Amino acid sequence: QIFGDRKNSLGLNMNIHSQADDFINAVHQYRDKQWQGGPIVNGDVVDAHHKVAIHSPQNTSHHIGTICWGDKALAEQALKSANAAYRRWRDTDVEVRASALEKLADLLEANRIELIALCSVEAGKSLQDGIDEIREAVDFCRYYAQQARELMGEGTTLPGPTGETNELFVQGRGTFICISPWNFPLAIFLGQVAAALVTGNCVIAKPAEQTGLIAFRAVQLALEAGIPGDVLHFMPGSGAEIGSFLVSQEEIGGVCFTGSTYTAQAINRALAARTRAIVPLIAETGGQNAMLIDSTALPEQAVTDIVASAFKSAGQRCSALRVLFVQDDIADRVIDLLKGAMAELKVGDPILHETDVGPVIDGAAKSNLEQHVNDITQAGRLIARAPMPEYTNGGTFVAPTAIEIDNINQLVKENFGPILHVIRYKTSELDTVIQSINDTGFGLTFGIHSRNETFAADIARRIDVGNVYINRNQIGAVVGVQPFGGRGMSGTGPKAGGPHYLTSFVTEKTRTNNI
Ligand code: NAD
Ligand code: ALA
Repeated sequence: QIFGDRKNSLGLNMNIHSQADDFINAVHQYRDKQWQGGPIVNGDVVDAHHKVAIHSPQNTSHHIGTICWGDKALAEQALKSANAAYRRWRDTDVEVRASALEKLADLLEANRIELIALCSVEAGKSLQDGIDEIREAVDFCRYYAQQARELMGEGTTLPGPTGETNELFVQGRGTFICISPWNFPLAIFLGQVAAALVTGNCVIAKPAEQTGLIAFRAVQLALEAGIPGDVLHFMPGSGAEIGSFLVSQEEIGGVCFTGSTYTAQAINRALAARTRAIVPLIAETGGQNAMLIDSTALPEQAVTDIVASAFKSAGQRCSALRVLFVQDDIADRVIDLLKGAMAELKVGDPILHETDVGPVIDGAAKSNLEQHVNDITQAGRLIARAPMPEYTNGGTFVAPTAIEIDNINQLVKENFGPILHVIRYKTSELDTVIQSINDTGFGLTFGIHSRNETFAADIARRIDVGNVYINRNQIGAVVGVQPFGGRGMSGTGPKAGGPHYLTSFVTEKTRTNNI
């Protein structure tokens, strides 16, 4: 896609065999590399005491490197330095900040093979997901650079009485604490950081515990791109300790968080307990995402999109399909096709081109998901489980699973993995179905398959979610094309990769001059 003078990045076509083979060979060169990382304060990597060994989710005996975690004293030092740098960075020309993001985008592209390898070995991502991850990170950097030039330019002149000029400006807010999840360890990590920096804020970035190595490389590249060391600090560590410590500090400008609803609520409480400035929380959280298939839908097309929405990335996308509502007249056909499609899914090592579904992130995630499958199967009817690989090397694989249940209320939480729940409905029950989806309190993504345009438009209007997709899958929002984010328990907005996102990182100032 081309947007004015900006293009979204091209990625790589894995269907062109010559290109794909060279790419796969290049990625495999990094398979046995040992990565190291740690806190970065004032541009220096700190050799902190708490060292954490990182293992691959697909082979838990494969040690891929070590990351040092920061502590509270280091976090305080980073915050002090960031706050001291804030006014200088805020008053730096937006062109300097935007150009640094564009340089960072170029560096991400230049280093993409290593970054894709890290996505695979540290986060268990398939090669295609790794390619998409780098593209999204690049697109965030270029998109926010373009947006910031428009938002943070000269200011707007407003009407007023003769002899008086009135102008409206926006400025950064201070030091943003950026806290990110493991499932988009580069794209979401850098998307938050890029938005905060380009709008004139300093940043302390805390990655997820599981994916500190790729975030460390991203911060190294950001510093190489020209972001000053006192403006961007990196603080790996546990959410319960370092994350909660950072968000409870009085002298912060805001928090940008992506992760579970539960953690967002805890951060909200910590911010409310502070006694000085009231600062914004931008939170993007989980979903209980549904898809509705009516009797006019094309079953083959619907099943392709169900499989992608529910099982791609091992279901570890906040946008992923969790609950499929299928109209009774078409349900048997859809379920039959779904069983067939699931039997063909290849679960396995994500660094192999033929793999469709990689591991879930860790042993805790695997046992929670298996427990859920056990519990819900007692109350429902198992439709299918995809075949598991013969050798798992202790990898945390969960077989893609489809289970028929009666009601969405049987699901008490988001199940973050490749588990699909299927509910049959009769046309006379449609209002109840819509109400039950809205009543979950989540509001992230929703899919509709129907060839009745009026029906689809009406359902899209009535469903309380941030992103509706009609006759396609409901994952993989593209920067600048499908601004992404939810409402209610799914997040505060504004949408990442959309034209309003940067406005939450700035504060407004008017200047009235009676000349
Ligand atoms: P999580 O909430 O467990 O952790 C997210 C981050 O918060 C991590 O960096 C963690 O260390 C930190 N954290 C944990 N407790 C904290 C505390 N008390 N104070 C401050 N920070 C704390 O989420 P996760 O398991 O890493 O990620 C999966 C979740 O993220 C899912 O719920 C998924 O739906 C959601 N998600 C949402 C979006 C979106 O755009 N809406 C995108 C990706 C993931
Ligand atoms: N933005 C990601 C998606 O749409 C989470 O799948």
